[in-house]
Amino acid sequence: MSFAKPASHGATGRDGTLRVGVIGAGVMGSNHGRVLAGLPNVELVGILDPLPEHRTRAIDLIGCPTFANLDELLEKGLDAVTIAAPTHLHHEISLACIARGIHVLVEKPIASTVEEGREIVAAARAANVTLMVGHVERFNPAVAAVKQAIKGEDILSIAITRVGPFPPRMSNVGVVIDLAVHDIDLIRWFTESDIIDVQPQLSSAVAEREDIALLQFRTASGVLAHINTNWLTPFKARSVTVATRGKYVSGDLLTRQVTECFGFQPDGSYSMRHLPVGHDEPLRAELIAFVDAVRSGAVPAVTGEEGVASLEIATQCLETPAKPTANASRKGPRRVAG
Ligand SMILES: NC(=O)c1ccc[n+]([C@@H]2O[C@H](COP(=O)([O-])OP(=O)(O)OC[C@H]3O[C@@H](n4cnc5c(N)ncnc54)[C@H](O)[C@@H]3O)[C@@H](O)[C@H]2O)c1
Repeated sequence: MSFAKPASHGATGRDGTLRVGVIGAGVMGSNHGRVLAGLPNVELVGILDPLPEHRTRAIDLIGCPTFANLDELLEKGLDAVTIAAPTHLHHEISLACIARGIHVLVEKPIASTVEEGREIVAAARAANVTLMVGHVERFNPAVAAVKQAIKGEDILSIAITRVGPFPPRMSNVGVVIDLAVHDIDLIRWFTESDIIDVQPQLSSAVAEREDIALLQFRTASGVLAHINTNWLTPFKARSVTVATRGKYVSGDLLTRQVTECFGFQPDGSYSMRHLPVGHDEPLRAELIAFVDAVRSGAVPAVTGEEGVASLEIATQCLETPAKPTANASRKGPRRVAG
C-alpha cells in the first residue's frame, strides 16, 4: 500500500485552524458535526453522507457544507476526519483517508473484524497519522470520577450494567458488538490490564442476533469483571461498580452520581461520600482530545491498538461456545410455568 503524502501534525488552515471533515451524517455524525462546529480553532469543512435527506438535515442542524461522496470532501483539503459511517465501512473509509495523510478519529467499534482493525492500525502507523477510536464513555465525567477514585487501589472486581430498549434503527450487530464493547474498553482501561479469560452467556430472545449478554472476564492482573447488557429492559440504565481492597466505588453513568464507601471497620461500619463529577459533554471532551493529539502528535487518548483489543475480546465473546447444559438453549428464555 502506498501513501500519497506523509502526514504532518499541526494545522494547515489560516491562523493555525485545523480543517476537519465528518463522514456520515447519521445520529453520531450529526453530533460530531455539531460539536466540531463549536470548537475553537477548528473549521468544520463539511459533512459527507450519500443520503440527500441526511445532508439536508445536517444543513438544517449545523449549517455547514455537505458532500455526497468522499473524493468531493477530501478535495477540499483536510487535516483530519471523524468517521461515523456504518461500522462495515470504517475499514475502507479509514484507509482512504489515511492514504491521503489525513488524521482519523473512527467511531467504535474500530471495524467489523479484528483483521480489518489491525489493517487500519498498521496503515496509520506507516503513514504517521493520528488514529483515535471513539470509545466516548471514557470521557463521561462519571467514568472519569470512578477512574480517579480507584487510582492506586488494588482492584478486585468490576460490574457494569448497560441495558435498555431496542434501538430505533437496528444495525446488523448484536448487543456485544454494539454495547458491551464500550464496557470491555472500560474494564481494560480501569484495570490497565488485558482480558485473558472470557466466559460469555448469550441469548437471542427477540432479535436475530444476541440481545441479552452476561459476560464474565478475568484480566491478566487477576481482576474479575462482569457485564450485564441487553436490549430488553424498558428503560436505559448504565452503571459501574468497582470493588477494591480499600473502597467500593459506584457510578451511575446517566445521572452522573458517583459514591465511594471506604474506611471499612471490623464492626461492619464504613464511611460513604459523593465524589465531585464534572459537567463536560463526553463527545466534546473526546473531540477536543482528538484535536489536541493531532496538533501535538502525542499518543491519542484511545489508540487504534486499544480499539482492536476491545473488538477482539467482543469477538471472542461471540465465538466462545456456550457449555451445553440440559434443557438450555441460546435461542430464547423459557416461560416460567404458572
Ligand atoms: N460512541 C458511541 O457511543 C456510538 C453510539 C452510536 C453509534 N456509534 C457508532 O457510530 C457509527 C454510526 O452509527 P450511527 O448510530 O450514527 O448510525 P446511523 O445509521 O445513524 O448513521 C450512519 C450514517 O452513515 C451514512 N453512510 C452510509 N454510507 C456512507 C458512506 N459510504 N460514506 C459516508 N456516510 C455513509 C448513512 O447514510 C447514515 O447517515 C457506527 O460505527 C456505530 O457503531 C457510536
